[in-house]
Order: sequence, then structure tokens, then C-alpha cells
Amino acid sequence: MPTNKTLIFAHRGSAGTHPENTMVAFQAAQDLGAEGIELDVQLTKDQIPVIIHDEMINRTTNGTGWVKDFTYEEIREFDAGSWFSSSFKQASIPSLEELLQWATSSDLLLNIELKTGIVRYPGIEKIVIDLVKKYHLANRVILSSFNHYSLVEVRKFDSSIETAILFMEGLFEPWNYAKVVGATSLHCYLPVATPELLKEAKAAGVRVRPFTVNEVNDIQSLLENNCSAIITDWPEKALTIRETLVQ
Ligand code: G3P
Ligand code: MG
Repeated sequence: MPTNKTLIFAHRGSAGTHPENTMVAFQAAQDLGAEGIELDVQLTKDQIPVIIHDEMINRTTNGTGWVKDFTYEEIREFDAGSWFSSSFKQASIPSLEELLQWATSSDLLLNIELKTGIVRYPGIEKIVIDLVKKYHLANRVILSSFNHYSLVEVRKFDSSIETAILFMEGLFEPWNYAKVVGATSLHCYLPVATPELLKEAKAAGVRVRPFTVNEVNDIQSLLENNCSAIITDWPEKALTIRETLVQ
């Protein structure tokens, strides 16, 4: 694949078609041919990194409560698929280790988002880095966070894993700021991904992967601008559009 082709990252797995952040959603993304997946990581009471977007399990499981208050053994028991469709009632909240083990037999890029904005989860950065290294996946992982202190913390333990600042709006010259926290990529909210930002970031050698890019027009426009990657709930749609464009 030419290096300038815009890569497709499946947001929370193929979240448009499968229950987000479950192994079936990640498997679907791989089967569809996405180059990458994005996943959200939080810590259980016994410090096990698990894959779930919200700090509480209420929205995406049949349980209630905070991730931080369950042990891994307890959190595994919840049904993380039925809220989406009864056909996914077997799905559970995966551990990061389960995902990494599975990923060793693929060539997927892995964007691990450290969810340290609302609950800080002290120590999560080293726990995640150690696991990534255990499975020899450092060269395929991008660690991102809305909490940029987390990215600085990553750099205390590792100098090579790619890091990305997540942000919504109003950040001044993010292509320069990213470097302050040791990051080389911008994962920005879609409306912020203007042609100017794409141009400046490219000139600064900084990659841009906007989220969450679901509409045909937005997908087309970012592909035409040779954006590094897009993060989408609908990888199949994005891959089909990419096939029709000469990049
Ligand atoms: O990493 C991109 C995107 O997932 C960030 O927002 O809330 O979907 O985790 P959120
Ligand atoms: Mg995320």
C-alpha cells in the first residue's frame, strides 16, 4: 500500500455495525479490511486494563456502576452486547491483554486511547506500555489521550511508542503544541480538521487522524486531502469510498 494512502481506523471496532469495544467489533473491522482499530482503555479495581468507553458500565452492559469499582473477574460477567442487539449477547468487556494477544496474529495498527480524563487511573500508562511490549506490538501502537499529562507520563517510560494528542477545539497551532508533550500525531474532532490544519501539520511532519468521520462527504474530503487516517464507526463505507478514489 502506498504510504500516502489515507488509512481507515475502525472507531471502537466497527461500532456502527457491532457493539463497540468488543472482540466481535474488532474482528469485524479486521475482516472488512480496515488498517487500524481504535479502542478505549480504563482500569478495574484490581488494576487490569479493560476496553470500554465510559467510566461507568451502564450504557454498554446489563450492569450498573463504575469500572474502577469492579474487579476484572466481576466485570467480565456483564453482557456487553445485548444493549446493541440480542444477537451479540455473548459479548463481554475485553481485557486489553486479550485484545493484544489477538492482534499478534494480524497486522492491524492499534490506537489505544487512555481514558484518563474523568477518572485518572494512576499508573495506567506503565501498565499499558508493559503489556504492549509483552506482545511486541510497540511499533504498531499509537497511544492517545484527551489528558495530555498522560502522554507526558508515557514518555517517562517509553520514548518510541507513537503518541497522539486528542482534542476538540481551540488549541493554538496543535502541530507545534503536540511536540511539547512528546506527541507526533493529532487526533482531532472532525470540525477542527480544516485544510489549513492538514497543511500545517503535514509541513511539520505531524500525522492527523480526525474522529469520528462517518458521513460520505467528510470521508471523501479527507481522503482527497491525503489525511494520514480517519477514525470511523463505518469502516466498510470508508473503504468502499476509498476504492473509488485514486489517491
Ligand atoms: O480516539 C478518537 C475518539 O474515540 C475520541 O473520542 O469519546 O469516542 O473516545 P471518544
Ligand atoms: Mg475513543
